[in-house]
Amino acid sequence: MRTRQNESTMNKFYKINTYGCQMNVHESEKVAGILEEMGYLACPEGESADIIVFNTCCIRDTAERRALGNIGVVKAEKKTNPDLILAVFGCMTQQEGVADTIKNRYPYVDIVLGTRNIAMLKTEIEKVIRSRETKKKSDKKYRCFDRSMPTDYLEIDEKTPQTRTSFPNAWVNIIYGCNNFCTYCIVPYVRDRELSRDMSSVLDEVKKCVNDGYKEITLLGQNVNSYGNDIADKSVNFANLLKKIDEIEGDFRVRFMTSHPKDLSDEVIDAMANSKHICRNLHLPIQSGSDKVLKDMNRRYTREHYLDLITKLRSAMPDIGITTDIMVGFPTETEEDFEDTMGIVREVRYSNAFTFIYSPRKGTPAAKMEQIPYAVKQARIEKLIALQNSITKEISNDYINGVYRVLCEDFAEKHNGMVCGRTEGGRLVTFPGTADDIGKFFDVEITEARSASLFGKKKV
Ligand code: 5AD
Ligand code: SF4
Repeated sequence: MRTRQNESTMNKFYKINTYGCQMNVHESEKVAGILEEMGYLACPEGESADIIVFNTCCIRDTAERRALGNIGVVKAEKKTNPDLILAVFGCMTQQEGVADTIKNRYPYVDIVLGTRNIAMLKTEIEKVIRSRETKKKSDKKYRCFDRSMPTDYLEIDEKTPQTRTSFPNAWVNIIYGCNNFCTYCIVPYVRDRELSRDMSSVLDEVKKCVNDGYKEITLLGQNVNSYGNDIADKSVNFANLLKKIDEIEGDFRVRFMTSHPKDLSDEVIDAMANSKHICRNLHLPIQSGSDKVLKDMNRRYTREHYLDLITKLRSAMPDIGITTDIMVGFPTETEEDFEDTMGIVREVRYSNAFTFIYSPRKGTPAAKMEQIPYAVKQARIEKLIALQNSITKEISNDYINGVYRVLCEDFAEKHNGMVCGRTEGGRLVTFPGTADDIGKFFDVEITEARSASLFGKKKV
């Protein structure tokens, strides 16, 4: 079914399937920007797409298998629509051997691009189309597999168009790549070394978002605290970036992720505490509460250092909402180490924790160590989730009858006539509202707490 009169005026549609983190969500906005500049439109419900892009993730085995499974599913679509162009992009393609797997096992994939050559998408699509037009003569099919890491990536990136899809939230990259090499993590291998954007480019982008009506700006980087480390001018650092962003006029909020505990400086904590726009909310991954495991993970901080940071953060901002990432089942984690993790969770009382079962990633040091049986990891994560849920519930109950400023972000899933948004500390609140409310701030009185979700009503 096509909304068209004839071939020449036919709309061309794109679909983007995104897996993984916020960084990927934002990179998909750049893919959308490139495709829209080429004349493609976002594919409406019920229409078939002319181009499908998979923006992949490989942080854990599950993410990788989900993407590969769905690429497999598209084979049927390609049979009914041989003109369909299929592109696979992102972290997964950057791993050793994966491009070859796609080449051999999924021969109907036309384009494979790595994390830093997104801007090649336009020319590669054009080449695929041209080769198909001349196919009858040469009978050759053009396929592209390029995972190179261009040295002029930052210049290319500044010119890449983007179509933002998360109003009233806007994602702004400040640093690409990672230098840390935590022993479990694939990211430094697939996203290369740290590259910080020019401070004035970041500031211009934030100002543009604010002028365009975006109300919450989230600064993105694998480790935002190393922003500027690769720039000669030492005044370019994360604390100064936050201070400069805070000087921008307007009614908007700023969040950032992710912070590495070894690099979170006193200056950053001060910049947060003294700001108008920066939310009292911090995502500070602990990963493990055991010094031995932290050392084996190459995290380069101790439990004591981490707890000192929590004390500093809470004395500077008593109402700060702190969230974390925790991994269980790292190869050297004993039952005692796991109990240290449970202990730190009890001590810090996170407002939310993202919990993961360690997944061996090929090519990383931890994947070569002797592994823990899956059943042990499973039992540990269940205990950890139960503990965090009980803490979240207790913290939620303290919100009842309080009034919080909430940015209305979207309709509430599964609740008719309701909208949802976040408090400054990052807690999700659901309340009665309409489409008109999205993108506006409201004072909301909390009337009910159900574990991680809070419910309330607008205060008039
Ligand atoms: N297995 C499981 N979880 C992982 N993470 C990173 N690598 C792995 C892995 N190999 C988790 C970390 C990180 C979050 C984004 O994903 O907790 O902070
Ligand atoms: Fe991975 Fe560690 Fe870099 Fe985070 S800091 S992306 S966990 S290597």
